[in-house]
Amino acid sequence: MDDIKNSLSYTLNHLGEERSKYYNAVSPPIIQTSNFCFESFDEFKNAISNESDSHIYTRGNNPTVEILRKKVAALEKTEDCLVFASGSGAISSTILSFLKSGDHILCVNNPYNWTKVLLTEILPNFGIAYDFVDGSNLGAIRAAIKENTKMLYLESPNTATFALQDLEACAEIAKAKGIITAIDNSYCSPIFQNPHDFGIDLIIHSGTKYLNGHSDVVCGFVCGSKELIASIFHFATMTLGNIISPNEAALIIRGLRTLELRLEKSHGSAVKIVEYLKNHKHIESVLYPWDKDFPQRELAKKQMKGAGGLFSILLKSTDLLQLEKFCAKLQTFLFAVSWGGHESLILPYCSLMNIPNHPDPNVPVNLIRIYIGLEDSDYLIHDLENALKIFD
Ligand SMILES: Cc1ncc(COP(=O)(O)O)c(C=O)c1O
Repeated sequence: MDDIKNSLSYTLNHLGEERSKYYNAVSPPIIQTSNFCFESFDEFKNAISNESDSHIYTRGNNPTVEILRKKVAALEKTEDCLVFASGSGAISSTILSFLKSGDHILCVNNPYNWTKVLLTEILPNFGIAYDFVDGSNLGAIRAAIKENTKMLYLESPNTATFALQDLEACAEIAKAKGIITAIDNSYCSPIFQNPHDFGIDLIIHSGTKYLNGHSDVVCGFVCGSKELIASIFHFATMTLGNIISPNEAALIIRGLRTLELRLEKSHGSAVKIVEYLKNHKHIESVLYPWDKDFPQRELAKKQMKGAGGLFSILLKSTDLLQLEKFCAKLQTFLFAVSWGGHESLILPYCSLMNIPNHPDPNVPVNLIRIYIGLEDSDYLIHDLENALKIFD
């Protein structure tokens, strides 16, 4: 029984769900309340001394949200977890909880765009310095650490460049200097990578992606030890207050039921489609961490169990008009940002040129990010095949 309780299927289907407390309902109730009341002075006094685990006020904790916290903490093999109103909310709340004026944060190159804005445009207003470093170069990381560095921020794999960092080595370097490590683990989801196994302290997710998985909720998570999560709770959750509603928590719990199935399906289809695209005459190259020709393939195999549905292609043509026509001809792929839902998506980087905060002005115009959702892979290949005829 203990083994079952440690299993993924138990976490997704049962963990945290105390059904006898709510009429043995299989699905947890949505406890739609802002406030909780107490029968005695002592009960209230005890609860308020541990607000993050008690039910006092929904900004701090709510029973429906609590079920979700338990599940995601278990998925990341950590002691505790907090849920935020977005992935960016989780990132900013985590960073702001551990850095103060005079401190320095070291971040890998090309983090998610709004993380970069936080570091370069917001943190300096509070006297917090930052540096970006090539995360694949451990010597460069060591050299970039300063006396006042408080956090090493990773994103592996990166969702634009797909660059990986050696999590174990990064954790070792940081631990030796007493620096907290945080990682954006959205690309892999907890199904394909558990950074805590490699010594990373804080694991962040845009839950909007795979964890919810149905493109109908925006949310974020941070997982870690009781102690670190308590710091974030007291600093950020209670003061910044960027929480989710019990309603959204129930939707995410429902999404989690199929997390493993969805990831397996996306991953399997992506592997097949990448193989097809790599051999296509109009494709220059494909960038996918699970591809056997991926430059950091060995590292990917060491710390990941799969890669999900997100990758990029570089087309041979750089003709903007043709690229536009290619995107327009696709029938199944939706033209959209984000990823991790049930629907397959396409994001041509040429459509992002000349906008403020563009991911990287040096990104080639012929780069297209593709996300493979849950549709039939043969159908998706047929759609790509048809659209690629534009370049004949
Ligand atoms: C890698 C990564 N991290 C964080 C975020 C931010 O998450 P959210 O949109 O839930 O705020 C995103 C969103 O696209 C992302 O791709």
